[in-house]
Parts: sequence; C-alpha cells; structure tokens
Amino acid sequence: MLGNDAVELDRLRLQHDLWRPFLQAALGRATLSPGERVIDLGAGPGFVALDLARIVGPTGQVLALEQNPAYVRHGQRLAVEADLGQLEMRCHDLLRDPVPAGPFDLVWCRWLAMFLPEVEPLLDPLPHCLARGGRVLFHEYVHWDTFGLHPHGHAMARFSRAVQRSFRQAGGDPDISRRLPSLLAARGFEIEELLPLPVLGRAGEWPARWLEMFVTLYGSRLQALGLWSPEEAEAARLEMAASRADPGSFWVGPTILEVRARRS
Ligand SMILES: C[S@@+](CC[C@H](N)C(=O)[O-])C[C@H]1O[C@@H](n2cnc3c(N)ncnc32)[C@H](O)[C@@H]1O
Repeated sequence: MLGNDAVELDRLRLQHDLWRPFLQAALGRATLSPGERVIDLGAGPGFVALDLARIVGPTGQVLALEQNPAYVRHGQRLAVEADLGQLEMRCHDLLRDPVPAGPFDLVWCRWLAMFLPEVEPLLDPLPHCLARGGRVLFHEYVHWDTFGLHPHGHAMARFSRAVQRSFRQAGGDPDISRRLPSLLAARGFEIEELLPLPVLGRAGEWPARWLEMFVTLYGSRLQALGLWSPEEAEAARLEMAASRADPGSFWVGPTILEVRARRS
C-alpha cells in the first residue's frame, strides 16, 4: 500500500484531479442523482466522497469507509469546510468490520480491490447493503502491462514489472478487474457495463505528469522493498528526461476497467 504522508496526500489529490473527468463520466453513466445514498469503499482522503456528496446533495447521503485514521480525519475536515452534512467519513476495515446495512443506491470503489489479499470479504456484503436495483461501480485495473513510456522506455518496462511484483507480494492482484465481473455475476449482479479506460499522453500532458510522479515516488518504495535499484532509478530518470525532449514520445497508463453491475 502506498504511504500516508503529506507527499502521498498530494499525489492522491493530483491523481484525483486528473481522473475527475473519468469519475464524472462514470457517475453520469451510472445516473447518480440527487437524493441517492452512496457508499465509498476505501475512500482515501475523501476527495471522491466530496464529489459524490455534491452530486447527491443535501437530501442524499454519502458514507465513506476508510481504514487509515489520518485520511478519515482529512475527509471529515473537507466535509466540514465544504458544509456537506450529507457526507460521513468513517474509520472502517473492510476486511474485518461489518459493512453498514444501508440500504444504499450506489457502491463506489476505486483502486482498492487490487490491494486486498482477498476480495470476497469486500464483495460478499454488497448484495445485502444495496437497495433492489442498486448499482456497484468499480474502477480497478484490468491490464497493468499497458503501462509504458515509448518508444525507448526499457527501464520503465522493468519498473512496471517491479511494481506488479510488489503488489502481488503484498497479496494484491494488479489486474483484479479480470475477475470482478464473474465474482459479481456469481453474487447475483447483472453486469451492465465493462468499459476499458485507456490513458495516453505526451510530455507535459496529464498522463505524463501523473505517471512521472508515480515512478519517482513509488520507485523509492520499490527500492526500500529491494525490488528496484538506484541504478534502475537513474536509468528511469534519464528515460523520462529524454522523453521530454522528444515530441514523439508518449506514456501509456495501466488500463482501468469500469465495471458497473446492478442488483436485481
Ligand atoms: C490507492 S488508495 C485509493 C483511494 C480512493 N479510493 C481513490 O480512488 O482515490 C486505496 C485506499 O484504500 C484504503 N484501504 C486499503 N485496505 C483497506 C481496508 N481493508 N479497509 C478500508 N480501507 C482500506 C487505503 O487506506 C487507501 O486509502
């Protein structure tokens, strides 16, 4: 799991800003509306929960569950500052604590399932906490191997393999979206949408800013784990510098799959 210091908070804020158009489009496809009740699983510092609370408005409800107390306090502060009484951030371990009964109209989950050593404790309660006709909406990766810096990102290809190894060593599955639709169907959900969200950008464009930041910050983590060396980090830094000088160079992000399913 990524750390929770101020640098990581800044990274999550930037990441949220960059991904906001994808979030809003997904919520539009899911027809999230004023007055609805939403649960946000693994809510991080509360940036998405804030957007959700604005959409459902004062007649709706957002319950954001997060295990990191510092993130919970951050989200609670955001809710007070924005005067969003419909947003509650709660400290909660999704692998241990019982999921609140609801009923909810929408479950939102992004970049959480991929880190969990087992997803069953996350998925099993979903049919019970949703109202009839309620939706689940996941944004998790389906193909981490699309990550790359082209045309010369050899160190970046090795970085990608090290990242995926680190996720698997911690018990996660970087491509968890390959399994989510079947796991949801087995729990009685009707799969409404499977939509890949590819990301590509040249130097200076947002995917490049997002991925360069990830390489720099998560590269340090990989070194601490012994999965990446200072020499590899330097090779990656040189590749990034070279890409900024080549107008034909471009980044591709790991591909997310939007999974939307409905409780019948
Ligand atoms: C990469 S962050 C994503 C945050 C947010 N969903 C977003 O899209 O920005 C993953 C979050 O899941 C939280 N998390 C991981 N395991 C959890 C668990 N068992 N229960 C609750 N939260 C968990 C982490 O603390 C972290 O804040």
